[in-house]
Amino acid sequence: MLDAIEQLEREGVASLAHAATPSALEAWRVEYLGSNGRLKAALSGLKDVPKEQKPAVGQRLNAAKAALESAFAARKEGVGSTATAERLDMTEPGLVLTRALGQQHILTRVRDELVEVFARMGFGVADGPELEDDEHNFIKLNIPPGHPARDESDNFYVDDPARTARARMLRSQTSTVQIRVLEKMVAAGGGRLREAVKIVAPGRVYRPDTVDATHSFMFHQIEGLCVDRAVTMSDLKTTLLQFARAYFGPDAQVRLRPSFFPFTEPSAEFDMLITLRPDQPPRWIELGGCGMVDPAVFAACGVDPEEWSGFAFGFGIERLAMGKYGIPDIRLLFENDIRFLQQV
Ligand code: DAH
Repeated sequence: MLDAIEQLEREGVASLAHAATPSALEAWRVEYLGSNGRLKAALSGLKDVPKEQKPAVGQRLNAAKAALESAFAARKEGVGSTATAERLDMTEPGLVLTRALGQQHILTRVRDELVEVFARMGFGVADGPELEDDEHNFIKLNIPPGHPARDESDNFYVDDPARTARARMLRSQTSTVQIRVLEKMVAAGGGRLREAVKIVAPGRVYRPDTVDATHSFMFHQIEGLCVDRAVTMSDLKTTLLQFARAYFGPDAQVRLRPSFFPFTEPSAEFDMLITLRPDQPPRWIELGGCGMVDPAVFAACGVDPEEWSGFAFGFGIERLAMGKYGIPDIRLLFENDIRFLQQV
């Protein structure tokens, strides 16, 4: 009897090694460990064993049962994982475990692109403070006290302009940088302008506008200033057309419309034919203003208008970005929804 149990155990362990699939494994379990299986049969043979041999045979049977059960459990684990491996689709793309890289915000990129285009036309870069005073935001730009553009409801004042000299405010336009640059150059020249000026100044501006698809209380402008001897309106037009073609492509269509700004004379509005939505025809979009620097601005900065002339322009960077990349709503640029940012 003991030999028979020994053999049962050996056979069981040996044939288990051939059970390579879950169904073969189940068939083995039924044959050896099932309720009508071979181990059960051996157990029921115990009753015929002579009484004095029963403890030894019983023990041997228990040991065989434990051995078969643990061999089965171990094999099951092995077969289980092989079965998973068999189901692996090797053509499936692997998990991407690399960290997603960030990228520059679209407005930063557009700003850099614009600066780059103007740099190729000989413009340097200047900047000025966002917290300005009304002397630079208004007075020296020929916007005197009482002018409607200074209205408190149209500007973010930090000081009360009615009570404070040089009231501070968040600048409403980058034209402030024209004044800052001219003042600095005149100071450096010992009280007079001694060399030509050719700069662009990108930066944030603030106006209490109601937010909608084309307005925001904070946006960006890029200001341009070119001062030299005998600069004319046709230099301005050429510069703007060259810029539009360089940035939007050779087919860019632009137009100037007569307008009014206190700091330029004559003044014009600069429009471009732009497709904002693929399902709509292109529209003339106003990108900003421009004109010949008003002699009053030169005088306020100590520049001799008899010796120097110049042109200036100021464009909305969001509008340029929307036109260039077909972005239909300005709010997309500020909400910082990662799904939008990853697309542009
Ligand atoms: N500062 C004007 C604005 O914010 C835009 C502008 C118009 C700038 C004419 C200029 C200019 O330099 O010459 O609406």
